[in-house]
Amino acid sequence: MKIIGVVAIITFFLTGCYYDKAQLIYPINTCDTTNAKYSTTVVPILSTNCYVCHSGTASSGGGIALDNYTTLKTYVTNGQLLNSINQTGVVPAMPLNATILSTCDISQITAWINSGALNN
Ligand code: HEC
Repeated sequence: MKIIGVVAIITFFLTGCYYDKAQLIYPINTCDTTNAKYSTTVVPILSTNCYVCHSGTASSGGGIALDNYTTLKTYVTNGQLLNSINQTGVVPAMPLNATILSTCDISQITAWINSGALNN
């Protein structure tokens, strides 16, 4: 019985160490892509990174206003929104002359599109 107890304790610590290291190597993904919505997910990201050029009054976005759902939806449907933020080379990379969006931002926009790109 004592040996089993010792084995159990050793196993416990080995397992504990294993998980500690696993969390260091593979950090817990804190990017929440569930329930990605237009109003609470997409608008804040575009507002921070894109509206400076792509809103109603801005002239520096090639005349493309992405601050209204209808226009944005056309760029979702023709694939240019995802191609631009993923910087695939199919269309000019966005945001223009700035750092690519974070992996989380791109994942959240992609999740919204995959769930139908609703005006929600
Ligand atoms: C510094 C200004 C600027 C910023 C910031 C910017 N854009 Fe653009 N965007 C442009 C210009 C200029 C064009 C027109 C490019 C062309 O047609 O050659 C454009 C075009 C586009 C297009 C049409 C397809 C294409 O690539 O030509 C999309 C979609 C787009 N932008 C999305 C975005 C998104 C999404 C963001 C934010 C992540 C963003 N843009 C940020 C200036 C900007």
